[in-house]
Amino acid sequence: MSDFVILPEQDRSTYCTAKQYKDLYRQSVEDPDAFWLGQANRLDWFKAPTRGGEWSYDPVEIAWFADGTLNLCHNAVDRHLDQRADTTALIFEPDDPASAARILTYRQLHGEVVGMANALKALGVGKGDRVTIYMPMVIEGLLAMLACARIGAIHSVVFGGFSPEALAGRIVNCGSRFVVTADTGLRGGKVVPLKANVDAALDHDGVEVDGVLVVRHTGADVAMAGGRDHWYHELVSDAECPCEPMNAEDPLFILYTSGSTGKPKGVLHTTGGYGVWTATTFHYVFDYQPGEIHWCTADIGWVTGHSYIVYGPLMNGATSLVFEGVPNYPDHGRFWDVIDKHQVNILYTAPTAIRALMREGDHFVTSRSRKSLRLLGTVGEPINPEAWRWYFDVVGEKRLPIIDTWWQTETGGIMITTLPAAHDMKPGSAGLPFFGVRPQLVGAEGEVLEGATSGNLCIRHSWPGQSRTVYGDHERFVQTYFSTYKGKYFTGDGCRRDEDGYYWITGRVDDVINVSGHRMGTAEVESALVLHPLVAEAAVVGYPHDIKGQGIYCYVTLNAGEAGGEELAAELRQYVRKEIGPIATPDHIQFTDGLPKTRSGKIMRRILRKIAENDYGSLGDTSTLADPTLVDRLIEGRQNS
Ligand code: WTA
Repeated sequence: MSDFVILPEQDRSTYCTAKQYKDLYRQSVEDPDAFWLGQANRLDWFKAPTRGGEWSYDPVEIAWFADGTLNLCHNAVDRHLDQRADTTALIFEPDDPASAARILTYRQLHGEVVGMANALKALGVGKGDRVTIYMPMVIEGLLAMLACARIGAIHSVVFGGFSPEALAGRIVNCGSRFVVTADTGLRGGKVVPLKANVDAALDHDGVEVDGVLVVRHTGADVAMAGGRDHWYHELVSDAECPCEPMNAEDPLFILYTSGSTGKPKGVLHTTGGYGVWTATTFHYVFDYQPGEIHWCTADIGWVTGHSYIVYGPLMNGATSLVFEGVPNYPDHGRFWDVIDKHQVNILYTAPTAIRALMREGDHFVTSRSRKSLRLLGTVGEPINPEAWRWYFDVVGEKRLPIIDTWWQTETGGIMITTLPAAHDMKPGSAGLPFFGVRPQLVGAEGEVLEGATSGNLCIRHSWPGQSRTVYGDHERFVQTYFSTYKGKYFTGDGCRRDEDGYYWITGRVDDVINVSGHRMGTAEVESALVLHPLVAEAAVVGYPHDIKGQGIYCYVTLNAGEAGGEELAAELRQYVRKEIGPIATPDHIQFTDGLPKTRSGKIMRRILRKIAENDYGSLGDTSTLADPTLVDRLIEGRQNS
């Protein structure tokens, strides 16, 4: 096919050729239990599992390796002490390039994790407790995750960019009684007041915790509440702290993610299946070779950070780079500086970062060597072919494979991707299903579509890394993922499959928008807007944005007698920022005297989306609207804004 990008034969070994992929894929779908029990051998088990997948999508109950016992901290840290105690486990690159980088071998990492685990115990944390981690991108954030895994506590990492309100909601939802944070964080030279945000969150009604562990990072002065707040360096100790044996189905973590309705939900992952999935995908997809430096630029506040900064790399004994900063500080060459400085071999980043750097011109890239790079990866949103081309041509100098990896918080790890050097690539297509993944494209009536076609992306057989439930609300789990199409997991994404069997994700088909690779529920932004005393009603949609992929477009109606203007728009933007966090800041606010509704009162978002996109030719049937004349006023408002 002409749209393939084919790399010259590579003279390096890989774990998987195209032929091996075919064989392994066939085995993985013909006998999933045998295949995954085999892959489970990648991990050390206290008691090896004999049972594979035990699951049903109606009713929804999912388990893998249910008779196995293991600990993921042991797998990520302790078990490397025999073979590679002096191998570098983590490289920390600080926000300020003039500050010293920090390097931890597996032996040192072990000592640090034990120290953190003891500090958590001293705080009162025990097996099964939920621990909220609200940290900057520093080593201690990873230590807190691994220490929870070590003692059998369930971590709930909340992205450090979220507001006190958002943090409070997540603490309450999972009944977490412990928070791990730092004095302040640094991002692009700006201070993030993490401890102060925790204090503000804990001031909310109904938020009550027993202990807050505070890591001294920048040395900023912070308030410490007596009895509740403890400095990490005062609780840390090197007492013995063995890894707690966990059942494969014991929870490992909760991670909040946005859906099309309501508040963010706590996606729950368990120990064995998630461990096997992230270890296996990391091995094959990144084709990791011993000695290589792996850099995933995500934050540990997102699933990408969980799976491909922490668990996947460390369970494979890899060297993982932890970056505190941002791509454009001190200048737009920072990524390439970090790569040269630490001789990074694998770069895994997001299309939004690629587009932002592309806009600044090639010289930031070409003025740096980048010779150490061996593989480029992308994740988080569809990558437009233009950005793909720039990544391939300029960053990779046409010599490096690109993997475009499609997956979700709920899937635990990578689901669709090409394998480097095994598969030819197509710019803009994620590629082929990973082992054991059985995608189905489904039509509006639930019919399964075969061959080259487009439809809603479902997965029809469970895989070990699949989320097991929504924390505290299994019914919501069932409704969200398994009720649209009976017997299938529905991803919420639209997708095309081409004649070569390659998958092209076209984006969300629900009311979730993807802003700079971050999932945002339009309902969340709407709820924040209507909290403002002048706002009567709000409808939020995504619209194309050059850098962010999608921007946040808000239609706002005000209380009778109120008039909107620049000033109020700015105030509302601030308001949403404060409620949710900077990533939810509206890009555009349009005041309107009404929202397009059907006679039964349902907002017709399709129309709002088209108008936000400046696409008035295909508004479709507007005759069912309660007030058809509103559409013209909305268009006029769009054009004037
Ligand atoms: C989108 C991030 C196209 C998709 C790992 C999915 C992608 C949502 C890709 C999950 C990709 C992720 N190509 N779209 N390679 N990767 N997405 O839960 O819409 O933060 O449903 O997980 O991001 O976002 P989440």
